Amino acid sequence: MKPTSDEIRKRFLDFFSENGHLVIPSASLIPIGDPTLLMVNSGMAPLKPYFTGEKTPPQTRLCNIQKCVRTNDIDGVGDRHHLTFFEMMGNWSIGDYFKEDAIHLAWTMIHDVFEFDTSQLFATVYSGDPKFPAVPPDKESERIWLKFLPPERIVHLGADCNLWGPAGETGPCGPCTEIFIDRGEQYGCGGSNCDPHCWCGRFLEIWNGGVFMQYYMHEDHSLTELPLKSVDAGAGLERFCVILQEVDSVYEIDTISPITEVLMPEGKNCDSRSMRIMTDHIRSAVFMIADGVRPANTRMEYVLRRIIRRAILHANLSKTDSSRLIAAAVKVVDIFSRYYPELENNRGEIISTLELEASAFGKVLRQGIREFSKVAAKSTNVVSAEAAFKLHDTLGFPVDLTKELALAQGLSVDEAGFKALLEAQRERSRQKTLKR
Ligand code: SER
Repeated sequence: MKPTSDEIRKRFLDFFSENGHLVIPSASLIPIGDPTLLMVNSGMAPLKPYFTGEKTPPQTRLCNIQKCVRTNDIDGVGDRHHLTFFEMMGNWSIGDYFKEDAIHLAWTMIHDVFEFDTSQLFATVYSGDPKFPAVPPDKESERIWLKFLPPERIVHLGADCNLWGPAGETGPCGPCTEIFIDRGEQYGCGGSNCDPHCWCGRFLEIWNGGVFMQYYMHEDHSLTELPLKSVDAGAGLERFCVILQEVDSVYEIDTISPITEVLMPEGKNCDSRSMRIMTDHIRSAVFMIADGVRPANTRMEYVLRRIIRRAILHANLSKTDSSRLIAAAVKVVDIFSRYYPELENNRGEIISTLELEASAFGKVLRQGIREFSKVAAKSTNVVSAEAAFKLHDTLGFPVDLTKELALAQGLSVDEAGFKALLEAQRERSRQKTLKR
């Protein structure tokens, strides 16, 4: 029997609570007292003061399922595994167990509790990196993994992959060990060097089996030792569902596919990238609004505005009536309120905020699309910086949406040129202000 996401949540929390972890509630997506962070982007983000020793945790072993928003790889949304909103199943040791127990717990969970096909699993360990000479290669994790995996399935990676953190510009970080599952050649690029380091999608990271939090990263990227040695482990619930429910992508798991179904115009052949983007972005927007974020032009308010507008653009590109976006939002509330009652409590606000933003943006979008089609007709391969800037400056049409429209027609945008024009405009207005 394939487990439902409900069963996966329960098994995860039961396992860690049986192993002495206190189950704590998910924090809000709005970071509290952390100006370095736009949104809560990981399970550990709300727990930073425990890792630094500034606050004492209620217990030294904790676990939960934390709602997270990550937009740094927003352009990847639409593939099989990237989402801007996801739920992170996390377990933490705050100065309690370290590498040996963290890896044993991870393995027991994967092998005994979830019964993953372990012949498909790979572990990555930190190889050392000239960028961070103070952090030695993680020989200890390698030694522990060798109890469970043959050496050829232990992969050594540098700081870009296996030195995790901080969440935000500064904060706790450390070398990590991740578990990947090989989804099979049919998902791969076919390259002879294809391994968990390859981004083709064949190897899916299912668990960051432990960030070994030992260091504090400062603004200049220098590291100092933390007072405690801690563990921050996390697994994306949606990715677990993909493997355990034996589906192709996160959009087919039991809690997400009903949202896409609401969006799909019946009998139409839909562009699945647009469907996926709308599904993901509406889910993110609903959770953000429920936590009190409202669309505006700075910081996390802008993140919300950007994802709502991108969802509306994709509704337009795929000829999906925008009322379906609202119906999809209602579906998100219906599915997730049992875990996050703040959704039900803010149902009216969620819908009215989305409706308001959709109607405010509708006019700009129609004008933008009209003007863009004239620009596209005159462009070969690249939309010029001047044209993208004019759309931004005269119509308020965001450049990331110009990029989307360009992509749909096989064009790119001169982004570097656009940034230079924007900077020049900002400089001119700075000079004007100084003269006043
Ligand atoms: N913080 C780590 C991550 O997000 C492990 O939970 O991958």
